[in-house]
Amino acid sequence: MKLWGGRFRKEENKLMEDFNSSLHVDQRLYAEDIKGSIAHVNMLMHSGLLTQQEGEEIVKGLISILEDIEAGALPIDGNFEDIHSFVEANLTERIGSTAKKLHTARSRNDQVAVDIRLYAKRKAQEVIQAIEDLKQSLQDKARENNVIMPGYTHLQRAQVVTFQHHLLAYDQMLKRDKQRVENAIEIMNESPLGCGALAGTTHTIDRDMTAEELGFAKPVDNFLDGVSDRDYLLELMSGFSILMMHLSRLSEELILWSSQEFRFIQIDDAYSTGSSIMPQKKNPDAAELIRGKTGRVYGSLTSLLTTMKGLPLAYNKDMQEDKEPFFDALDTVLSCLAIMSRMIATMKVNHENMKRAVKEGFLNATEVADYLVSKGVAFRDAHSIVGSIVIYCEDHQKAIEELTLEELKQISSFIDDDIYAFIDYPSILNKGIKVGLLR
Ligand code: ARG
Repeated sequence: MKLWGGRFRKEENKLMEDFNSSLHVDQRLYAEDIKGSIAHVNMLMHSGLLTQQEGEEIVKGLISILEDIEAGALPIDGNFEDIHSFVEANLTERIGSTAKKLHTARSRNDQVAVDIRLYAKRKAQEVIQAIEDLKQSLQDKARENNVIMPGYTHLQRAQVVTFQHHLLAYDQMLKRDKQRVENAIEIMNESPLGCGALAGTTHTIDRDMTAEELGFAKPVDNFLDGVSDRDYLLELMSGFSILMMHLSRLSEELILWSSQEFRFIQIDDAYSTGSSIMPQKKNPDAAELIRGKTGRVYGSLTSLLTTMKGLPLAYNKDMQEDKEPFFDALDTVLSCLAIMSRMIATMKVNHENMKRAVKEGFLNATEVADYLVSKGVAFRDAHSIVGSIVIYCEDHQKAIEELTLEELKQISSFIDDDIYAFIDYPSILNKGIKVGLLR
């Protein structure tokens, strides 16, 4: 059953066989593996390395394997080293000795490289779609909730913003996350098929033909590079890590906002869970899990970076360890995006609590300073005057806008009756470039 048994005098140790096998992981490459083989066979026929009849027989056999796997009639298991061995063994079982010609002018090294690039390209498109879905949820929720809320720095109330503007900050982050995934797709869009084990082949094959059939922009320029680098997976996983960092920050805010301390939002029951002992509890588990799984994606990136860092050219078996972290990061990112999108779409926003929170914490103090500047006071002096106003307010348990004109004038004679309109929260957002907060 071994693809390479010829030069061995002894059977492989059973423990070693299990240790070496990657079938339980790389089986998800089956469709790409078969697609890559079909392109290879079409090219071999075209180049005269297989007769038309041989080629057609092999392609027919490969298609029947694909159909059976997809119909559930051919489970991917058994004592095979990897998905490549599994497919080839099945082909031999189905069509006999012609199957032995499939691997002409090919190595598993270029085969696995083309499989994983095809798979990564396809799944990266799914990630892009999932990012777009989340962007849509954020934009819809933002549009429906153009309400004022406290903006924070250091988690201390700072200045008034809108909930819309706050959500759209994440929309911008996701726009860049999407660009990073698109860049990664572009970088991996070259076909390694035909690189052979590391040194090409003495056969006159047509790498442009297979590259085109498989949807790559061109074949890779260097054989050694084509079979030995996994930087395109690292590129994607770096993008995934940054994306998860953004989702984690958003999760953190959802967790804070849904707490009794904030009560700015309510996460839908469908995305919350309860406590086995405290009957009143409703916990933001979905957001917490996204925050938690972020570490897992960083771990996958670090894992593959570490695997690759000391490898001489070209292929080394270490690289078989690329798949588990990549698949795990990919699955995690896709599920987190889907959950986040639904959680945002279904959450309720408590406008009244946000408005109330704006009134406490002197969120218009900076605008009082701006007002004084408009009356000719230097900003640094204005800053200091407003500091005194805030101390006065704290002593008298009042907001700035609740002080009488006499009280205000006692602190600064530059203040007039027009201050109240100037520092009124909704009108603050209509001044200067702050109108951008309303978009
Ligand atoms: N299962 C292998 C991997 O994923 C396929 C390539 C095997 N190549 C080899 N020379 N043993 O990397």
